[in-house]
Amino acid sequence: MKGVILAGGLGSRLFPLTKITNKHLLPVYDQPMIYYPIRTLINAGIDDIMIVTGGNSAGDFLKLLGNGKDFGLKHLNYTYQEGEGGIADALSLVEHFADDEPICVVLGDNIIERNIRQAADEYRAQGRGAKIMLKEVHDPQRFGVPELDGDKVLRIEEKPAEPKSNYAVIGIYFYDNTVFDVIKTLVPSNRGELEITDVNNHYIGRGEMTWNELDGWWTDAGTFESLLRASNLVSETGANNLGQGSAG
Ligand code: DAU
Repeated sequence: MKGVILAGGLGSRLFPLTKITNKHLLPVYDQPMIYYPIRTLINAGIDDIMIVTGGNSAGDFLKLLGNGKDFGLKHLNYTYQEGEGGIADALSLVEHFADDEPICVVLGDNIIERNIRQAADEYRAQGRGAKIMLKEVHDPQRFGVPELDGDKVLRIEEKPAEPKSNYAVIGIYFYDNTVFDVIKTLVPSNRGELEITDVNNHYIGRGEMTWNELDGWWTDAGTFESLLRASNLVSETGANNLGQGSAG
């Protein structure tokens, strides 16, 4: 399985912090934001990684990360997203890199306390379709929210005013190689983006979606409040912890 980190977009919710640099280069406690999703993938045994960047300071990713030597990697792959066409638009750029292998996609502003080893192993065994990860939150309106019937996800709504559950679909996704054909069928949403939620609903419609609940805390870091929260959580407990048994 290959790994993809989506670190494009303009980070407009963090203006003026992102006026001259990329959101994923900003600090989260003592490290640049992009370090955390890289560790999430490596801890799941995924070391063939492509970073999709965009917006400002794209060249600084190379300066900061090079070939990933500081993470024990031999090589890192990069590509560039023009504009802010959405998460699924950014993902479409890795089709040639994926080369028919399954992929684990991590949003560049998503940080986890523990790890996704169990989910990654279960997806490897699943062999096809997709897997999402859920986490109970107090503010589901900010996220993709699943409607659940027991263990089954019936549908996901993107930022619903009236959420059908208290779960968020977190920004870590597993897909087979049909994801690129799914993206080609999408049309832009009201916010003018190709939505990852539409991709996930496609797999749900095909009956090929599974989910795991994430163990440990999770946060995004794309708003002033969540960026502060992320720094505080990392300073209190650390992130990408490999101990404490298995995790979602
Ligand atoms: O954090 C989890 C949430 O992420 C999910 O619950 C939502 O379903 C999903 O749509 C997404 O919501 P946001 O609106 O918070 O995503 P945001 O626009 O902040 O983008 C998250 C990351 O995706 C960002 O850090 C970089 C990447 N991205 C985003 C866009 C819009 C790109 O690479 N390119 C893009 O064009």
